[in-house]
Amino acid sequence: MAPQPTVTDGSCVVPEWYPSGWRLVRAGRGPGSSGASTDRPSAKLALMTEAAATTARSSNLPDKPRIFSGIQPTGRPHLGNDLGAIRNYVALSEKYEAIYCIVDYHALTHVHNPEVLRRQTLEMAAALIALGLDPDKCSLFVQSDRPEVTELCWLFNTVTPVGWLQRTPTYKEKRANQPEDVNHGLLTYPVLQAADIVLYKASLVPIGRDQAPHLELSREIVRAFNARYGETFPEPQAVYTEAPVVLGTDGVKKMSKSIGNTIEILAEPDVIRKQVMSMVTDTQRILRSDPGRPEVCNVCQMHRHFGADYREIWEGERTARTGCVDTKKLLAERIIAHYAPARETYRALMADPLRLRRILDEGAERIRPIAQATMTEVRERMGLR
Ligand code: TRP
Repeated sequence: MAPQPTVTDGSCVVPEWYPSGWRLVRAGRGPGSSGASTDRPSAKLALMTEAAATTARSSNLPDKPRIFSGIQPTGRPHLGNDLGAIRNYVALSEKYEAIYCIVDYHALTHVHNPEVLRRQTLEMAAALIALGLDPDKCSLFVQSDRPEVTELCWLFNTVTPVGWLQRTPTYKEKRANQPEDVNHGLLTYPVLQAADIVLYKASLVPIGRDQAPHLELSREIVRAFNARYGETFPEPQAVYTEAPVVLGTDGVKKMSKSIGNTIEILAEPDVIRKQVMSMVTDTQRILRSDPGRPEVCNVCQMHRHFGADYREIWEGERTARTGCVDTKKLLAERIIAHYAPARETYRALMADPLRLRRILDEGAERIRPIAQATMTEVRERMGLR
């Protein structure tokens, strides 16, 4: 598989044949420039337009690059979800035409309780809005409200060699994690993900690094489709967030609901206090008078996101002027204050499920014409009518 360029700044990459002429160039990498390796994550990317190069290509493409991302309906998001993904979704939706999807079909590969799935889907939707996604500025919808994607997934199944799916590292992991439930959905999961993205002809996909294998597979599937049936879809491109991996309260593993090391930003203040106070700090700092190592202390690291004075906080730790408990108390209060407005909005939305449902229905309705136009084109290209 060819390495993908990394896009870290909301710039975009679209194929050369993209009719509107959007092209990606690397800033400072023009002829004669001697910039650093383009493979480095920091390689600066810039967007520019070029004269349109249209041939016998799909005419059914958006005017400007469209972004798409899917998020699992895991219920109320935690700090890692916000810093790692949701903040970036909000920022990108200001700049691009963005479509965000709560992937309940995907969740069925591991959530088998209907009540849990329904509740967690609504919780995630309410939280995304509360954390700043404006449903008027982007399309926010629930995957199963636009079922065309299941048809496209089936059609993509017929261009996808089984070996690609069996070799996908995430499939191997999931098989190991739930050996008693290796359902076919786990195998075909990345095909549905490819269908998600390109049903809307999206070319940019903000994701975490853990999703890189899925995105690479999406690109392979699109290439296989385009090779067999003609240029129909742009190859989707990953947009990796610049946010560092957020460690959980254990200070060791990535923050994750399944591990139980989360800080639940929309929970009651007392829950947040308890979670923050349980955080593991610098394990080598045993006595209050021992100097700390803020560069390895997860609590100090988190202060970066909640105030411009984190250097002073670091200094306090380094010199043992402050203790871990002080620093944790301060962090808890800052997190509580920072998310207070979001917590209010979240509570109001959860108390009015009809309103929430209406917002999600509108999101799904708005993108219906895009999905239908793609399916008409795809059916025709494949000989279904
Ligand atoms: N697999 C993604 C995850 O687990 C969710 C997802 C589904 C997704 N469809 C997508 C992400 C399309 C990006 C684009 O987080």
